[in-house]
Amino acid sequence: MSLNKPKILVTGSAGFIGSHVYDLLFNMGCRVYGVDDLSGGFMRNVSQKKFFTKLDLRDRIKTANYIAKLKPDIIFHFAADATEGRSQFTPFSAIDRNIVAYINLLVPAIKHGLKKIILTSSMSVYGAQQVPFRESMIPQPEDIYGISKMSMEKTTHVLSDVYGFKYVIIRPHNVYGPRQNLSDPYRNVVGIFINSLLHGRNFYIYGDGMQKRAFSYIDDVAPATVKAAFKKECEGKIINIGSDKPVTLKELAEIVLKTFYGDMKNVPKTILPKNVPDRPREVKYAYCEHKVAEKLLGFRPKVDLSNGVEKMMKWAKSIGKQPFFYLKSLELEHPKTPKTWTEKLI
Ligand SMILES: NC(=O)c1ccc[n+]([C@@H]2O[C@H](COP(=O)([O-])OP(=O)(O)OC[C@H]3O[C@@H](n4cnc5c(N)ncnc54)[C@H](O)[C@@H]3O)[C@@H](O)[C@H]2O)c1
Repeated sequence: MSLNKPKILVTGSAGFIGSHVYDLLFNMGCRVYGVDDLSGGFMRNVSQKKFFTKLDLRDRIKTANYIAKLKPDIIFHFAADATEGRSQFTPFSAIDRNIVAYINLLVPAIKHGLKKIILTSSMSVYGAQQVPFRESMIPQPEDIYGISKMSMEKTTHVLSDVYGFKYVIIRPHNVYGPRQNLSDPYRNVVGIFINSLLHGRNFYIYGDGMQKRAFSYIDDVAPATVKAAFKKECEGKIINIGSDKPVTLKELAEIVLKTFYGDMKNVPKTILPKNVPDRPREVKYAYCEHKVAEKLLGFRPKVDLSNGVEKMMKWAKSIGKQPFFYLKSLELEHPKTPKTWTEKLI
């Protein structure tokens, strides 16, 4: 491998999107390193163990030492506490793992010659504005996770302006597919639905199930993210990436059940989803427009939801049912805290 190639660091490289992006970069012949604290990622997702370091980016000194040694030219930042719905109940975690960890990474990287950062933000920055969300909208996040992502975006812009490194901000949404963490009871709705069925249990739908999302298959999202990193036209841009076809959660539930049981007629009554009260501040309609991605990247999502769920189901069956891992406790509780979490129903 040539030493003239840029040195790339992928954070959150044992996680879902990060591990796919890592593999794409490695297979392109890049010099690519990965870090993750394994709080939500798995060693089974790490294909190149000798280029992987277990590192908690909340540790300012260890992070600075790692960066001083590696001196990355390009960073893809995926590490996060991405549990949007839980962030109202774990605000320290959202701020520490998102904003603080990011600054711990960015400051030493700037000192050691960072050329470009690809920041994975989120559609959550749009809040409850009119769908489909466009990049030109002014962020109005509805939750702590969205606030943390918006702060990270703004921080990137300010520091890039002062110190001269380039950046691209990607706003993916509702990504699903193989390697997603199936054990998280707080996020990844497709993963929770599938893993519940593997356990032989019903799953739960918050509210009336009429929330709309456009679920985006990983094979559409990861390559577009890599492409955006290397296209000059994408520098300094914010880009929505994901599916164009919104569905309700009720429709998603049916697709997952049909894929698992072959036909809705075969679904046992005890397995039918149960509705529980909606989660505080959950945005009802959230999906994006992708004209910017189409123009800059020629982006067109290819994998439709039924097909993607089938592929993910096949993978999930191959690794088998996974235990759900709950936090020892939430940082704040309230009568509105979902029972699914306080009573560990999932
Ligand atoms: N999956 C989605 O639908 C989606 C949508 C929008 C945005 N995003 C963003 O994309 C990124 C990747 O999401 P994902 O779905 O792959 O989640 P993920 O949880 O699978 O990956 C995040 C990884 O970060 C690691 N991590 C967390 N805190 C860390 C820390 N302090 N130090 C080092 N590593 C740490 C976790 O162990 C995990 O492996 C996140 O920034 C998320 O906010 C994801």
